[in-house]
Amino acid sequence: MDKLLVHGGTSLSGSINISGSKNASLPILAAALLTDQQVVIERVPDVSDTNYMLQILSALGCEVERYSGTVKITAAEIRPEAPYEIVRKMRASICVMGPLVARLGRASVSIPGGCVIGDRPIDLHLKGLQAIGANIDTEGGNILIEAKEGLKGQEVDLSGKHGPTVLGTDNLLMAAVLTEGITVIESAACEPEVVDLANFLISMGAKIEGAGTRRITIQGVTSLGGTHHTVIPDRIEAGTFMVAGAIASRSGITLNRIRQDQLTGATEKLTEAGHLVKFNRTGDSVTVTQGDSPSGCSITTAPHPGFPTDMQAQFTAMFATTPGISVIEDTIFPQRFMHCAELTRMGADISVDNGTAVVHGINQLSAAPVMASDLRASAALVLAGLKAKGTTEINRLYHIDRGYEMIDEKLLQLGAKVERTRGSV
Ligand code: EPU
Repeated sequence: MDKLLVHGGTSLSGSINISGSKNASLPILAAALLTDQQVVIERVPDVSDTNYMLQILSALGCEVERYSGTVKITAAEIRPEAPYEIVRKMRASICVMGPLVARLGRASVSIPGGCVIGDRPIDLHLKGLQAIGANIDTEGGNILIEAKEGLKGQEVDLSGKHGPTVLGTDNLLMAAVLTEGITVIESAACEPEVVDLANFLISMGAKIEGAGTRRITIQGVTSLGGTHHTVIPDRIEAGTFMVAGAIASRSGITLNRIRQDQLTGATEKLTEAGHLVKFNRTGDSVTVTQGDSPSGCSITTAPHPGFPTDMQAQFTAMFATTPGISVIEDTIFPQRFMHCAELTRMGADISVDNGTAVVHGINQLSAAPVMASDLRASAALVLAGLKAKGTTEINRLYHIDRGYEMIDEKLLQLGAKVERTRGSV
């Protein structure tokens, strides 16, 4: 299993390009199931999660071609059963459910297992599909969805205990585009990734209004066609490198191929903490420089346009060495604090209780062997290692490879001293 050695203490400089968004790519790839014509999708990041999705699509019968960021998919003849061996590897596999039931009238998808960032129920996904006429059953660990009489547009409220659901909104949106009548999704997620999926579907011929707001209206059509689409930049990868700039760049690092309007949460908090964030005039490039006298602050995660839960761990790592007290509350995944135990092994002063971490900033962390527990927690450990004294050894690197394209190469490009090695753990 690969591990990453991060030799701390180097000041970062230079520039990198941000990859296409993993979380936009996954549902967009699944949406290729909605047409028998070819779709071409550009800037799909080469990370394990997109590879899993392509494996699922192949297993469902799609023809898949992939070369340097471009994916071509033709779903001419497909099967409704998503195989457990691949589905179990990635929770986002659940988003083949909507397209399969819309196109074939039935789907069988394994129930996703537990997840280290907390309970991740799928009740809202099922509620959405049931509301438009699907029958749902479970058998042998699979969800069986059937729409023998066809699907019928309805008004559906998808609000949950922790707010809206991103992939749940995607699933219903993908089912509704081929559903007779009008479907209205109330309390829809309005993350940029949902908007990108909607734009992809519209380019295939779907009729959708309101994506990016809490109310999405879909007028069903009888079929969708092929299209060519470029995935939006990965705002979480961008935000992660923005934190790297704030932690470890005295001269500034520049991130290209970003979108300023999608980075407001990270920008506001980095600025509030005393760092310098400067966008170019066109809003597609940003330079982040460590501030002279940074100070801690409070963060509460919230659905878009609030501060993203996917950036919580990275900011917690930054606050570990930021003077003052920082309070970080995750309202979306209150159990998503596994990185704190590892940061504490590096000397951080963090206490976690009831979905909130209180961080007392210390001068410097000291390197230690640490264990990545999930994607964003691993990114947090890499960030912590950049400024720690000594060499931080990050084990279970496969977590980071799920969602960060060539992270070690990008860090090297910025002057960080990192090495990927084959480990025995
Ligand atoms: N929820 C329910 N019932 C459901 C679905 C969700 O109660 O049926 C709850 C969840 O437990 C959570 C909240 O609703 O408390 C929001 O979860 P959501 O459904 O929005 O999460 P998701 O769609 O499964 C996506 C991202 C996650 C990101 C969340 C929140 C993808 C592939 N995944 O997951 O990304 O944290 O939205 O923004 O888009 C990551 O990239 O590291 C990652 C975990």
